[in-house]
Amino acid sequence: MLVSGRAMRTIWLEDDGAGVGIIDQTLLPHELVTLKLTKLDEAAHAIRSMQVRGAPLIGAAAAYGMALGMREDASDAGVESASKALLATRPTAVNLRWAIEDMRRILLPLAPMARADAAYRRAAEICDEDVAINRGIAAAGLPLIETAWARKGRQGRVNILTHCNAGWLATVDWGTALAPIYLAHERKIPLHVWVDETRPRNQGASLTAWELGQHGVPHTVIADNAGGHLMQHAQVDLCIVGTDRTTASGDVANKVGTYLKALAAYDNNVPFYVALPSPTIDWTLDDGVKQIPIEERDATEVTHIAGRADNGATMRVRLTPEHSPAANYAFDVTPARLVTGLITERGVAKASRAGLLALFPEMKEKRAGE
Ligand code: MRU
Repeated sequence: MLVSGRAMRTIWLEDDGAGVGIIDQTLLPHELVTLKLTKLDEAAHAIRSMQVRGAPLIGAAAAYGMALGMREDASDAGVESASKALLATRPTAVNLRWAIEDMRRILLPLAPMARADAAYRRAAEICDEDVAINRGIAAAGLPLIETAWARKGRQGRVNILTHCNAGWLATVDWGTALAPIYLAHERKIPLHVWVDETRPRNQGASLTAWELGQHGVPHTVIADNAGGHLMQHAQVDLCIVGTDRTTASGDVANKVGTYLKALAAYDNNVPFYVALPSPTIDWTLDDGVKQIPIEERDATEVTHIAGRADNGATMRVRLTPEHSPAANYAFDVTPARLVTGLITERGVAKASRAGLLALFPEMKEKRAGE
């Protein structure tokens, strides 16, 4: 998508054919800094520290992490240790496991000397596939925004609420939840996005607001708890959020706070859609609340906040009393019954096993053969 009017992706192969370029997302929105990853450890650090984040981008970064690992040690033991190091970085987004399994399937049958080249090739394909998938999500989600616009008699603007960042920064390009929004904006449907700030790491305030602004999409940042009020006053026509892992039954893990938005949407008859690429579906799970591992991050993300002072200095300040304990649950699960539909690259599915299998019938056969 556009940054200062120029198209950019979130991850790329550097000109030397070995280093992997990323945007350091921990510095946005104040500074756009790119980094070159040259080692497996650096890729694992980038994922763990959230220099790259968002389920699809974590998967793409892990794929390139495997390629960097193959340059260091392409033996079977090297494949194992690279997989282990990357898998340990973050627990909730299933795209990480998906990408590592995909890379292992390609690499293990090859002779060690052929592995590094094959890993770079497959990582590049995974990135291109992510972009194509997200364009599919854009096309599948567009009619939902067109319908909302028609329902308003094509008057005013379509108000869409989103949580966290499921835009191009969370993927290789286009985004998931924001992909239909970008396409609707391109098609000149007047729209406006309510951007939840998304405490504690503020991906909405710092990343979603930044990328929508770069792309010229009208938006307003709101405190996390404002959504219910806006829905009660007919200020939200639909919600679209992303997901880090969706079960085969349509339960959705996403950034903490998503569940409360879904409850408020349900109570106010506001359609609540979740956009996801198929690698985000965990076909092995049926009960999201019981089975999806929820990442617990450092409590200092809750007790402290970072930002830019008026004098331009970046600062981190404490919010809480010094001795108050804090807990930092990074994700929550929204049960399928609260989800109006799942926007995938193959169309919009009902949030249920039958709904997902209707779009991905090959998974029925795959599971039966397991
Ligand atoms: O912790 P993050 O920033 O990696 O979490 C990302 C999210 O939860 C996003 O909200 C998103 O919906 C899933 S990734 C498209």
